[in-house]
Amino acid sequence: MGIQYPLIIINFKTYSESTGANALLIARCAERVSKEYGACIAVAPQPADILRVASVVEIPVFAQHVDTEKPGPHTGYITPESVKEAGACGTLINHSEHRLRIDLIEESINRCRSLGIITCACANSSLVGKSLAAFEPDMIAVEPPELIGGGVSVSKAKPGIISESVSAIRSVSIAVRPLCGAGITDGEDVSASMKLGAEGVLVASGVVKAKDPGAVLVEFAKAIRQ
Ligand code: G3P
Repeated sequence: MGIQYPLIIINFKTYSESTGANALLIARCAERVSKEYGACIAVAPQPADILRVASVVEIPVFAQHVDTEKPGPHTGYITPESVKEAGACGTLINHSEHRLRIDLIEESINRCRSLGIITCACANSSLVGKSLAAFEPDMIAVEPPELIGGGVSVSKAKPGIISESVSAIRSVSIAVRPLCGAGITDGEDVSASMKLGAEGVLVASGVVKAKDPGAVLVEFAKAIRQ
């Protein structure tokens, strides 16, 4: 499943509103909006829901995390091979809610690259974003942890971190696409992020916990194309 930029990635996290059958409802909604408005929207369900979602929708499906264990005698890990087999074309790495040691971030990015899995490395600051750019993931999403889930968007509360991250990441590698996230809930937040140089957004509660996720996604899809 191809990725186009600008990109909207919906992180389903472990919200009950996006688990199991609900994961399918939101994924189908994202697919409808993606097709209707021509915006690239990817969804990141929990591991147990990847196959269920990827076998139904034609939009990109990401894992929320992968481990570096190789195929073999390891128990309770999520290998990149398994998420790829389940239909995921990409994965988040080092999300603020699932932080990794830097050596594991590098290994995860390299393992995924060797398997053709797209990587969205997450960073909690522009400096971390700059450091991760050295590993050349496909994209880096900078999200100030204190704004995650709070409903006040990074583009309103800390616009400087977006423009700073964009130039910091690009100063290391122009191949890495800068995204941003945290607190994004409406089209204004999305267009502000794009104006600051982001090539996409990483969102969660603004969509998953919305009364009408479809309506929010339409706003996002219109804004990201501006
Ligand atoms: O992965 C994106 C997430 O961390 C942002 O969360 O709820 O602020 O959109 P939220």
